[in-house]
Amino acid sequence: MRSLLPALLALLPLASCTSMNSHHAAAEPARDLHSFGEPARVRVRHVSLDLELDFARRCAAGSVRLDLERTDRSAPLVLDSESLEILGVVGSAGGTRAHRLAGRDPALGSRLEIELAPGDTSVTIRYRTTAGAQAMQWLEPEQTSGGRRPFLFTQGQSILTRSWIPLQDSPGVRVTYEATVRAPQGLVAVMSAEQLGRDERGAWRFRMSEPIPPYLIALACGDLEFRELSARTGVWAEPGIVEGARDELVDTENMVQQAEALFGAYRWGRYDLVILPPSFPFGGMENPRLTFATPTILAGDRSLVGLVAHELAHSWSGNLVTNATWRDFWLNEGFTVYFEQRIMERVFGAERSAMEKVLARRDLELELAELAPWQQVLHCDLAGHHPDDGFSAVPYEKGALFLRRIEQLVGRDEFDRFLRAWFDGHAFESVTTEEFLVSLDRDLLARHPDAAGQLDLQAWLYAPGLPADAPRTESTLLAAVDREVGRWSLSTPASELDTRGWVTQQWLRFLDTLPDELRVTQLAELDRTFRFTQSGNSEILCAWLVICAHNRYGAADKATAEFLLRVGRRKFLKPIYAELAKTPEGLRRAKEIYALARPRYHAVATRTLDELLQWGHAR
Ligand code: BES
Ligand code: ZN
Repeated sequence: MRSLLPALLALLPLASCTSMNSHHAAAEPARDLHSFGEPARVRVRHVSLDLELDFARRCAAGSVRLDLERTDRSAPLVLDSESLEILGVVGSAGGTRAHRLAGRDPALGSRLEIELAPGDTSVTIRYRTTAGAQAMQWLEPEQTSGGRRPFLFTQGQSILTRSWIPLQDSPGVRVTYEATVRAPQGLVAVMSAEQLGRDERGAWRFRMSEPIPPYLIALACGDLEFRELSARTGVWAEPGIVEGARDELVDTENMVQQAEALFGAYRWGRYDLVILPPSFPFGGMENPRLTFATPTILAGDRSLVGLVAHELAHSWSGNLVTNATWRDFWLNEGFTVYFEQRIMERVFGAERSAMEKVLARRDLELELAELAPWQQVLHCDLAGHHPDDGFSAVPYEKGALFLRRIEQLVGRDEFDRFLRAWFDGHAFESVTTEEFLVSLDRDLLARHPDAAGQLDLQAWLYAPGLPADAPRTESTLLAAVDREVGRWSLSTPASELDTRGWVTQQWLRFLDTLPDELRVTQLAELDRTFRFTQSGNSEILCAWLVICAHNRYGAADKATAEFLLRVGRRKFLKPIYAELAKTPEGLRRAKEIYALARPRYHAVATRTLDELLQWGHAR
């Protein structure tokens, strides 16, 4: 009647999991397949950056000092690096230190080994980034909203920080950091850290005093202005959009308060956002104290701020308690989606949250149909894969559904108590799926034998597909949309449908449930009536453009090209290009657009799209 845990743990590849003793599991950290670092021997504890940003050459140059914890005094320091030019290393005991840069692995970059003298407690590496710095995107002025100043941002997750800082780039190796950044006159630098102002030479100074995984070290630099949202929250953005951003994000302080009421104090001091130019490849990135966000969430009606709830939620799930390796990614994203939905429910009510859940589950089901079995597994095996290959709706939505299933079985109050204790008990730690299971069993399921008996951990964590007991959500507002789509399919003119008061989520449902095959006259009728091609809402526009591509609705061609040239968010690019690529004529157009747009996309996006469009293979 106890859970399946002992049997499950015995199945796991880790030697550390042969007993139920959580201390045992914690004592032998999981091996990170995606880092060369050997932290059990020499571990980086603190990173001290001193960099100058050169926009003309598109590089950052300077030094980094790494403070070390030396468990094995005879071991060298082993770091991750990618396309860095290493200019020299000195040890804290004085003198230069030999270093060896191994051959480059296409996914992991180059192992960098540094010899240490007996007295070294730190090393300082002088280096320069190169055009291969995938974490850095240098933007021309015309790629910004203002159009007059260049822009730079970094994106570290999952394994890109090593392309702008040599360090142990594993989420299991937490570091504190400080930074001095010299930027051209008139540009403002911001980081995922406390802002300490400028030094006597005008350089920007930062400090992060909490230990964070290296993928959360982040920098943005451009023509930025700040607007306060509350005493502890605010937004940075280019001058032309900063007022609009402030209006869109007014609910931020309330979100922080609701999140705290759910899962305990916000531990990072300030919560600010920076709105980046549209080529940012993600919707948002949870860099601590400073979420990085795409401008495509600025819909004008606050309908897409679920993304803020999501990135904020990572301040607990992800930043406070971090996946120890990328196979545990669902611990970051599944928890965060669950938590995001709880915040949204408290801030915007159960009905909006229900709509978002229904839409998310539908996306998961569509995506599951396309994924390889191994990608459908929550605790997926990434051996031989880039962490990005495990990126899909699975860690997000299947992860969140798993947690909601547990909530359903033990009751919300009990589950909340457990989650709070999980965050408090593992604050500023990196954790594995095995450690979660130990905690789940010991702190929750052991006290709920009935629930334990009903929870099929094997199916949820180790099997492909979606377990049959995945919770379902009903939404009356979406059911109303389905009725109208039904009427339209039975020939009621679009103009006679009852769409009064529909919100974004309803329009997304509308587009999602339209018949797959539509005639051009039908598309024209919908467009005339609802003006989708002109939509200022990026989610609605993207969904519509996918439909247009599928049905070859030429009237949207121009809008499609404009969208693909302006926006670099991978979530939008991928489905549109994929739909175009399905016909020879569409593929030709896709490649034409891609040839122009590609230099404006981040490496994260081109990695996905190069493969999708077979770029580089005989064009
Ligand atoms: N941490 C992720 C973004 C990420 C994941 C970057 C993996 C690199 C590798 C972030 O929190 C996220 O999930 N963003 C989503 C938005 C969210 C509302 C689902 C996105 O960018 O679409
Ligand atoms: Zn996330």
